[in-house]
Formats: sequence, C-alpha cells, structure tokens
Amino acid sequence: MTQSRYFTIGEHPEGLPERSLFQLESRELPELKDGEVRIRNHWLSVDPYMRGRMSGVKTYVEPFELNQPMEGGALGEIIESRHKDLKEGDRVVHMGGWRDVAQLDGSQVQPLPDIDVPPQAFLGVLGMPGMTAWAGLTLVAELEASDTVLISAASGAVGSLAAQLAHQKGCTVIGSAGSQEKREWLEARGIKAIDHHQDADAIKKALKEAAPQGVDVYYENVGGPMLEAALDAMNDFGRIAVCGMISRYNESAPSAGPANIAAVLTKRLRMQGFIVHEWVKGHEQEFYQQVGPLVADGSIEYRETVEEGLERTPDAFLALFEGSNQGKMLVRLD
Ligand SMILES: NC(=O)c1ccc[n+]([C@@H]2O[C@H](COP(=O)([O-])OP(=O)(O)OC[C@H]3O[C@@H](n4cnc5c(N)ncnc54)[C@H](OP(=O)(O)O)[C@@H]3O)[C@@H](O)[C@H]2O)c1
Repeated sequence: MTQSRYFTIGEHPEGLPERSLFQLESRELPELKDGEVRIRNHWLSVDPYMRGRMSGVKTYVEPFELNQPMEGGALGEIIESRHKDLKEGDRVVHMGGWRDVAQLDGSQVQPLPDIDVPPQAFLGVLGMPGMTAWAGLTLVAELEASDTVLISAASGAVGSLAAQLAHQKGCTVIGSAGSQEKREWLEARGIKAIDHHQDADAIKKALKEAAPQGVDVYYENVGGPMLEAALDAMNDFGRIAVCGMISRYNESAPSAGPANIAAVLTKRLRMQGFIVHEWVKGHEQEFYQQVGPLVADGSIEYRETVEEGLERTPDAFLALFEGSNQGKMLVRLD
C-alpha cells in the first residue's frame, strides 16, 4: 500500500493567503487501474497562476476543489505502471503536483524530451514558463529584431527567458525587477534594468531614460503602475502581449485600471492576452528545437530558487508574491 501526502485548501482566500490556509493531508492510494501510473515526485513547481485557482471562480482553468488534492506542475519517476508505453523508472512531467506521490492515467503524463539538461529545467526554462516566454514573444507579439522591448518581472521564470531571447534576437531590451541583485543580473546580460518599486511617475521617468526611442513591444507580467508606464512609453502601432498581472492576483476588490488606457486607441496599439497552452499547441517541437540547444550549451542562462521538502510548498508559493525567487521557484522532494 502506498501513501500519498498532499496539500488541500478548505476555503477560498481573500487577499494574500495565510500560510495556515494550506493543510497537509495523507491518504492511501487505491490499486492502479489499467492505463494508470504511480509517480514519486522529485520536483514540484509553484506558479503565480495557482492563486487564481484558489479563488473558486472558473476562468480559463477550473478552480481547485476544496479539501481535495491541489494540482500543479511536477516532475517525478514512475514507480508502478499499468500503462503499455510507460514503465517503472521513466521520468515524466505532469500536473499531479502539491503532493509526494501521484497516481494518474498515463495519458496525463509526458516523458521528458531528449535534451541534455537537469530534469527540473522541464518545469522552468524548458517547461511551461519557458514556452510562455517563447510563445508570447514570437507568436503573440511577433517580435522583430528592430523592436525595443519592455519586459516586466524580467528576472523571473518567464521574464528571464523572454528577456534573453529578445536580446539574442538583436532587440533593445528593458526589464523591470524588484531588487538590486536581480537588476545586476539583467544588466550583466545586456538588458537595461529598471526598479518597479517606485511610484508611477518615477517608473515612467526611468523608462523614458532607458527607452528614449519608445517601446514597440511590452511583455506584460505584472499590471499596475508598470502597465501605466508602458502605455505612456509605447510607440504607435506597438504590441502588448498580456501574459500575467501578478500585482492584481491578491486584490480583494478590483482597483482602478490604468488612467491612460486611451493610449491603446490613440497609439493604435494591439493588446493581446494569451494563455500558453492555447498558443503553443502544435509548436512544441519548434520550441524545443529553438530553445533547447541554447539552454543545453549555456547561451541561455536560467536560475532556480529551491525550497526543500513537501512541507515547504506553500511557503515557496507565497514567496512568489514577495519577489523572493530568482528565476524559477521550485520545491525539491527526496
Ligand atoms: N499567460 C500564461 O499562459 C502564463 C503562463 C505562465 C506565467 N504567466 C504569468 O507570467 C507572470 C510571471 O510568472 P512566473 O512564473 O515567471 O513568475 P516569476 O516572475 O518567476 O515570479 C513572480 C515575480 O513577480 C514579481 N512580483 C510579485 N509581486 C509583484 C507585484 N505586486 N508587482 C510587480 N511585480 C511583482 C516578483 O519579482 P520582482 O522581484 O521583480 O518584484 C516575483 O519574483 C505571472 O504574472 C504569471 O501569472 C502567464
């Protein structure tokens, strides 16, 4: 008999969740059915979008069910299989995270692509966040080498790949980040860095200095004063790829939108929200072929912030909203 330890939430939080919201529980797993596999997870991903799933409202994804195992990206090794193509010892990525042992139908797991990188990279730079960065720039914003590009949360999992890909394409790249250390990391990679922990006017001034020629593409991860500053800096016919708005995820009531939203009209901007899986579908091999070798040979650098042990999963998740992570936030299990 195999036990699975997993996290649940018993209510929908208001504002930034308290640590006590998350309950660690345990249950005995049933016998495997035909087609199922049992996986011992070694790495868990925590991601900002999970906050939306805690609110009990269906958006582009179903909300977490109260008092049921939470879900999320995870990487593990198959320890038992009743699936014809998956065998014990295979390493797979899947959505049975927030737990140590997952039991899933084989159709819900993906073997790791054959790229020579540490396996947890398939939860970050070569996983969902990496695909988001690539798809947002290339497919949504239709990036050109002549573009000046602004990327918010530019040292995070998505932003750090977006910033490096845009820089390698030949674009002028400006990234916002919340700490000196993060900004130095960006600057060492040829990316002009600005601090978003300033009032809206100071952000606008810093952006004007960093991009006197204006911004053609804004890769939006945060919302709030950064979006307002970006709208001011956008050139006519600029494109805004709206990937995320993390500054809004813990709001109890919606705050006022950017005062200068009329810039979308006056500058004839294209502002497109996107969800990674809808855009990357059918382009997965292109992504691995383009980005995989750059990660494997070190031309793209990626960082990870690692919390140790299943118990720390909620702490890792909550730290995303404090900006404590450099690069991808992960949890390592035994
Ligand atoms: N559309 C999609 O399909 C899709 C897929 C994946 C991710 N996303 C979105 O992409 C964004 C980045 O995700 P990620 O996984 O790469 O996370 P991340 O950037 O690795 O981590 C979150 C970062 O956001 C910044 N941040 C936190 N609170 C903030 C606030 N109030 N204002 C401004 N910045 C704040 C912090 O960096 P600083 O230190 O710089 O403040 C923090 O480190 C999120 O909005 C996420 O929801 C969208």
